[in-house]
Amino acid sequence: MRAGEGVIAAADAANRDPEVFADPDRLSPERPANHHVAFGFGVHQCLGQQLARLELQIAYPALLRRFPRMKLATDIAQLRFRDEMPVYGVDTLPVTW
Ligand code: HEM
Repeated sequence: MRAGEGVIAAADAANRDPEVFADPDRLSPERPANHHVAFGFGVHQCLGQQLARLELQIAYPALLRRFPRMKLATDIAQLRFRDEMPVYGVDTLPVTW
């Protein structure tokens, strides 16, 4: 690194550190928080994180209560993932219930 050059740190890489998070590529909702940095860290830490946490804690149980038999309506290999954006996800998620 030369003087005057900038650095962009990829916080997501920290959440995938296998020395801190066992089996880091596995989605595990019951995983302990273990000081993750999904909401950033420091002065620019996410201002909406408490709202986001509440929405997730309320919305997922409500969805599963309303549609207990909901399941994927396509082969998982058919899903198109948004891997060209900083915020990961799927373009569409077809389900049946
Ligand atoms: C699961 C949902 C969310 C995730 C994973 C998330 C993640 C993040 C991350 C990683 C940052 C830091 C970016 C950086 O370091 O520059 C951030 C910043 C921010 N987030 Fe979120 N966020 C979420 C939801 C929300 C919601 C619901 C709101 C508002 C209602 C919100 C408002 C903000 C704002 C205003 C900042 C900028 C804070 C600053 O620069 O001082 N976020 N978010």
